[in-house]
Amino acid sequence: MKILSIETSCDETAVAILKITKQKEYFFKILSNIVASQIKIHQKYGGVYPTLAKREHERNLAPVLRQSLLEARLQKSKVKNQKSKIQIKSQKLKTLKEILQRHQNLYKSLKRFLSKSQKPTIDLIAVTVGPGLEPCLWTGVNFAKALSFWWNLPIVPVNHIEAHILVNFIEQNQIKIKTQKLFPAVCLVVSGGHTQLILMRNFGKYEIVGETRDDAAGECFDKTARILGLPYPGGPAIEKQALQWKSETQRSKFKIKLPRPMIYSKDYDFSFSGLKTAVLYKVKSQKSKVKSQKFISQMAYEIQAAINDVLVKKTIKAVKDFRAKSIILGGGVAANSDLRKRFENFSEALKINFLVPPKKYCTDNAVMIAVAAFFYKKDKMSWQKIKANANLRIS
Ligand code: KG4
Ligand code: ZN
Repeated sequence: MKILSIETSCDETAVAILKITKQKEYFFKILSNIVASQIKIHQKYGGVYPTLAKREHERNLAPVLRQSLLEARLQKSKVKNQKSKIQIKSQKLKTLKEILQRHQNLYKSLKRFLSKSQKPTIDLIAVTVGPGLEPCLWTGVNFAKALSFWWNLPIVPVNHIEAHILVNFIEQNQIKIKTQKLFPAVCLVVSGGHTQLILMRNFGKYEIVGETRDDAAGECFDKTARILGLPYPGGPAIEKQALQWKSETQRSKFKIKLPRPMIYSKDYDFSFSGLKTAVLYKVKSQKSKVKSQKFISQMAYEIQAAINDVLVKKTIKAVKDFRAKSIILGGGVAANSDLRKRFENFSEALKINFLVPPKKYCTDNAVMIAVAAFFYKKDKMSWQKIKANANLRIS
């Protein structure tokens, strides 16, 4: 079985193709994994600008699809029978145009591509339907609908948050499912748009036990990085600076102390906007307007420590309260080495499982969408029924 997956919920335009074969276990092979990042475009705003992101998705989707099919060697030769091609086209193009009526440029580029290509040997299309930025989600969803209609393939709708969790189940070309020892699990999904603690009792059985009341953890990394004059995305930039300070002045004492919002609250919720404000005040209170390298790296270290302290403390509290057998990490912030290391140490001490994806599958990608669709392949539906939902909740 081959799944073609599409992800456009935020600022990455991604298309992947996953091949799954069944022997005793399920084996998978990533035939292609293309991610067109919009980082450069959003850098000057310090965050994602939804209408710009939508426009970029419209521009990128057809070339990314083509590249993905070529890489997977699923792109066949040109249509031979010119007459029948035109006949099919005239009937089909009208519907294609209707599906993509809000995406004129995407319609033009996809029409050009489809009229030159034959149907690839794909069994299923998977697409992120939410949560995410509404205009971006609809672009991906309408694109998936167009392909589904044109190639007569079913679609599986995928929840982006669940995909960040389920990508943990691919391991060395195998989908590993060891349910008895794994559940209940506490999942921490930390990204630019979300920070949620989810109790996972089994595949498809989730309960959100805590979440951020304002900014997401990744958003806090992004916004504080911008205050410090560091590039977007802020997470990797802060991580890099934090490492620099630690190695340069290992023995010196902290001069900067930031708050750990809600760290001792009795619930599993988070709040990061106060931390961002605290960083802003510290920067403004600097005598010199030019921030020294030492100040920036020390601040970065303390920002990372403050965010990770709260994330770890609340997760461990949930693990203990729910007697969880595993911690499952996912989302862009899960690429943070300090956070990974801390969870590794805690899970070892608590003798529980710790699942974290390879770094390249933490940030948004389409492989995770294909993996999630594999779990939900029975829920395939016709393109007419698929809808985007920016506020989709995992349940
Ligand atoms: O999952 P993701 O790619 O997109 C959303 O679904 O939002 O997450 C992007 C977020 C950004 O806020 C980025 O700053 C953060 O993940 N991020 C990191 C790291 N790499 C990416 N945060 C901390 N440390 C990192 N190494
Ligand atoms: Zn994400």
